[in-house]
Amino acid sequence: MALTTCKSMKEVSRVHNTIDSMFASRYVQCELPKFEIPMHETPKDAAYQIISDELMLDGNPRLNLASFVTTWMEPECDKLIMSALNKNYIDMDEYPITTELQDRCVNMVARLFNAPIEEGEQAVGAGTVGSSEAIMLAGLAFKRKWQNERKAAGLPWDKPNMVTGANVQVCWEKFARYFEVELREVKLKEDYYIMDPAKAVELCDENTICVCAILGSTYNGEFEDVQLLNDLLSEKNAEKGWHIPIHVDAASGGFIAPFIYPDIVWDFRLPLVKSINVSGHKYGLVYAGIGWVVWRNKEDLPEELVFHVNYLGADQPTFTLNFSKGASQVIAQYYQLIRLGFQGYKSIMNNCAENAKILTSEIEKIGRFKILSKEIGVPVVAFSLIDSSDHDEFEISDGLRRYGWTVPAYTMAPDAQHVTLLRVVVREDFSRSLADRLVTDIKRVLAYLDARPSKLIQAVTEAVQAESKEKAVPLASTVSGVKATEAFEEVVHHSRKKKHHGASHHHHHSHSRGHTNKKHALHKSNGVC
Ligand SMILES: Cc1ncc(COP(=O)(O)O)c(C=O)c1O
Repeated sequence: MALTTCKSMKEVSRVHNTIDSMFASRYVQCELPKFEIPMHETPKDAAYQIISDELMLDGNPRLNLASFVTTWMEPECDKLIMSALNKNYIDMDEYPITTELQDRCVNMVARLFNAPIEEGEQAVGAGTVGSSEAIMLAGLAFKRKWQNERKAAGLPWDKPNMVTGANVQVCWEKFARYFEVELREVKLKEDYYIMDPAKAVELCDENTICVCAILGSTYNGEFEDVQLLNDLLSEKNAEKGWHIPIHVDAASGGFIAPFIYPDIVWDFRLPLVKSINVSGHKYGLVYAGIGWVVWRNKEDLPEELVFHVNYLGADQPTFTLNFSKGASQVIAQYYQLIRLGFQGYKSIMNNCAENAKILTSEIEKIGRFKILSKEIGVPVVAFSLIDSSDHDEFEISDGLRRYGWTVPAYTMAPDAQHVTLLRVVVREDFSRSLADRLVTDIKRVLAYLDARPSKLIQAVTEAVQAESKEKAVPLASTVSGVKATEAFEEVVHHSRKKKHHGASHHHHHSHSRGHTNKKHALHKSNGVC
């Protein structure tokens, strides 16, 4: 795009009067080319201002309740991150201490997940950019191990498959497509939104490289039953002479379960669990860009996938998809692990779980939602409308945006895709007062929507209005106009009656709702008529 409406940036640069305030200068009046590199330089203060102004329109990360990813860290850790911004993690010779910190993290994570390692023994694992990279690496290890076994036995090794629930995160689908493994998904059903272990085992055959269980489904935070899967799969393996292993995708649950649900057996305590991934940037409490993958022991990671770097006389195995990456996130993870310790993580996770419980009960009290998340699981509150005939969850999500909240609405995975849900992720920085505020705003959005005709009627009325406008005739003089008006009145009347009736059954419904409804519905119908 050319700089059309004002002088070129070079000219602006020449006439730029430094006494002018930034906003009186010509820089903020000019359009920078968006899709090609500008011909001339921009002064640093102007570049800073232009970009930070544009970024003001991004959402506020702290109010982004869509994401599991950390949005707050202590200022001391921010300082460490800033001081390591210019360090490339992969330069292990130059930054041996950073490498050492990563090794310590891998060991801490593996031991947290009960890997069977002796004291002083090194854990097998790697730091990654997130759970997605961790899952690619774990998947590749399973694929290669299965191929090696098949080749050794003189059996075909060209049709690998893996079994997951249909609720898996997209990274599993990516792995399957990028690395040519058939993905066999156990379908969900209404009121059961995680993988059914029995059905997963039914989908296995001699070409199955692994079954993946999720500790904290992305959809509703629920933990899958890894112990039951382990037992059923062990029986099947024994019966068929297979060696199908389990991977646990503990992207969000891996930093929750060990601290607050120690009795749930999901990790290396189960013999078939051979690898586990966790996102350091979720409940590991580090900003975006860090994940971990750990293997049960050396035999579970085929040696030919590991590249060896010799640093300071020690053998440094590396197994990653990329080469360069920032060192800050590794340092930040180490900070959190030693700063918080087991007890610190435990209190934060307890606090998140408690806030999720309170939020769940407040949302339940509104009387309009069904809760789809569980008390035990990742601290998320997933909920859907009991009656979405007039307005749906997407409209609630849109409405909440007006108050600054990002609360996503999305549909469940197959075969429960007819269920739409809203999801609030409760993170460390989501306080009780924010939870109270959110509930107030959900109520406001509901009142606003109740006062509006249903989405369908709005769409029909708008279409008819547009048509009559095009034909330049008054709405009431066309047949479709009259019909639309009548249908609109009918629906408003019906929905008012239905809501009134509903309120007498749901004692949680506020009485004022009926009034607001009536008032706004009338107002709206007047507008249309
Ligand atoms: C269960 C699960 N697996 C994997 C991922 C991908 O994780 P990352 O964003 O760390 O790559 C997510 C992200 O939400 C997830 O919830």
